[in-house]
Amino acid sequence: MTFTPRTTTVHGRRLRYLDAAPAGEANRGTLVLLHAFPMNARMWEPQLVLAASGWRIVAPHFRRFGEDGAGDPPATSIDDYAADVVDLLDSLDVGAAVVGGLSMGGYAAFAVLRRAPEIVRALVLADTKPQADPPDAIEGRQKMQRLATESGPSAVVDEMIPKLLGQTTRAGRPALVAEVRALAASSSGDAIVGALAAMMSRPDSTSTLQGLTCPACIIVGAEDTVTPPAIAEEMHGAVPGSQLSVIAAAGHLSNLERPDAFNRAVGRFLNTL
Ligand code: MLT
Repeated sequence: MTFTPRTTTVHGRRLRYLDAAPAGEANRGTLVLLHAFPMNARMWEPQLVLAASGWRIVAPHFRRFGEDGAGDPPATSIDDYAADVVDLLDSLDVGAAVVGGLSMGGYAAFAVLRRAPEIVRALVLADTKPQADPPDAIEGRQKMQRLATESGPSAVVDEMIPKLLGQTTRAGRPALVAEVRALAASSSGDAIVGALAAMMSRPDSTSTLQGLTCPACIIVGAEDTVTPPAIAEEMHGAVPGSQLSVIAAAGHLSNLERPDAFNRAVGRFLNTL
């Protein structure tokens, strides 16, 4: 099973995404996976196996991320990402989809929900949070934008690695650390600066979360220090009937650090739909 890189043009805008067809006869629907910062859609490769249970997987690259992103317009808000996701799903004619986002991808999933709730059949919120950035976080984002511009993507990645990966991964899995570093460092300075602008200006999504009417699955790495388990538990408390999975020995990029446990949690949730 592999992802096929695809491009479609909507309203004159080129949208790039990875696509995996559901295996076998069954087509149980579409699972859209929205990537974290400063990664790209390739971070979802360990989730490809979910296609084996009959789900089409669509993973868009946010503006300027991923291969061939240089021609995209810059992102200025999280709504830019959400608008692209809505346009993409519209053009694929898939109807309502399960929308999953990890961290920044979760911020974008909230924005999709505000923009086009009818296309969200269910939600997977992984290692993310509904709160907007407080002033000190905005200052940190601005500093990181300067770092990206002045010193390049790899300087940003050096700063991000301890936040992205849990202690267990960093101590014992150098190959995975190198893989994540390479994927993140392949992002351009422009993609990074745009994502930081989008994240620092994003609105608070607490009321979006509280108003949720679709099924929701919340996942968090037990060693996540960016969006720690306490935040996931709060989200779980705010959404009656939601499923919560805390993944041991995983940090912020729980889908990459413990794909087996992550896929089990998502698979269990998809089986309830
Ligand atoms: C991410 O993983 O997408 C970012 O760490 C999120 C953030 O910085 O808020």
